[in-house]
Amino acid sequence: MAVEMGSPSADGLGDVVRALEKWQDDTVPVQLHPGDVGWYWRFGAERTAQATRTWSRAGEILAVGLLDGADLLRLAFAPRALRDEELARQVASDVSGRGVLPEGKVSVEAPMSALIRDVLSEDGWGSGEPWTLLRRDLGAPVPDPGVDIEVVGPEQAREWAAALRASFGGSTSTDERWHAMAAGVPYAGARCLAVRDERGEMVAVVIVWSAGVGRMGLIEPMGVHREHRGHGYGRAITMAGARALRELGSSSVVVYTPSSNVGAVATYRSAGLEQVSERRDLCRDARHAP
Ligand SMILES: CC(C)(COP(=O)(O)OP(=O)(O)OC[C@H]1O[C@@H](n2cnc3c(N)ncnc32)[C@H](O)[C@@H]1OP(=O)(O)O)[C@@H](O)C(=O)NCCC(=O)NCCS
Repeated sequence: MAVEMGSPSADGLGDVVRALEKWQDDTVPVQLHPGDVGWYWRFGAERTAQATRTWSRAGEILAVGLLDGADLLRLAFAPRALRDEELARQVASDVSGRGVLPEGKVSVEAPMSALIRDVLSEDGWGSGEPWTLLRRDLGAPVPDPGVDIEVVGPEQAREWAAALRASFGGSTSTDERWHAMAAGVPYAGARCLAVRDERGEMVAVVIVWSAGVGRMGLIEPMGVHREHRGHGYGRAITMAGARALRELGSSSVVVYTPSSNVGAVATYRSAGLEQVSERRDLCRDARHAP
């Protein structure tokens, strides 16, 4: 049977999320997580569906892509299909030529060991900036971070969004987006957390996303208000996120961050995550003809 590319309707996103959940196994490379789709859901179900692609054979989803921004496609594969040649060639061909990505300079994030990396490299795609993978096993308990942790619900959405804007330059976070995200399918397995300073201001924020019991959980996003850095809040909120994932039954907590973000790498390490490996996106240069 041939491999076919599809784009789900908003109602069909549940099937895509369930497929991604099943693939978050500690024995396979870290790849696009249901939490990444859940975080994208802040733009609403319709836009999330429009940004999603699936590749299926005989009705079974074998690969999922999320167009995360104008020029980046992030991919995940069913573990047993990571080296499936027909699938890799079809995805590569669709990504290179069928209007999935725009013309010009574009990037594809694909799990290490996926055959599509070889196929795109052979086609002349280069590599982008390095991203560092950090991971903590959740078999053993995570120590108490020693600060009060607040579980964020609809009432705190506005404050949470403001704290996220104060953490990330260029963030367009709003409470409307928080509500859209919280209505998404993946959010059922997520926890949105915050820490306040002694005056009650929200200073550190995180969302952790479970993919179900015995599977990897994801941190996305995590940040500390720029006026409150260097006081251990980043470490504390990361540890709180890891503890929440353990309660949800996750086997591990993982996060990818640009290797150049030394503060983030140091903070995750300080919270007990270990640097595992680096990964680079595959990039097509503006001059490279598809
Ligand atoms: C990265 C970030 C969360 C750190 O928050 P923070 O509250 O200042 O971090 P902490 O005070 O808890 O520091 C934790 C550890 O990281 C180290 N660290 C923090 N920022 C650092 C930096 N810029 N350079 C080097 N080390 C740094 C601290 O020294 C500390 O180390 P230690 O535990 O060994 O003493 C914050 O700078 C931030 O929000 N950045 C922008 C958003 C971002 O990059 N988020 C993460 C990627 S998704």
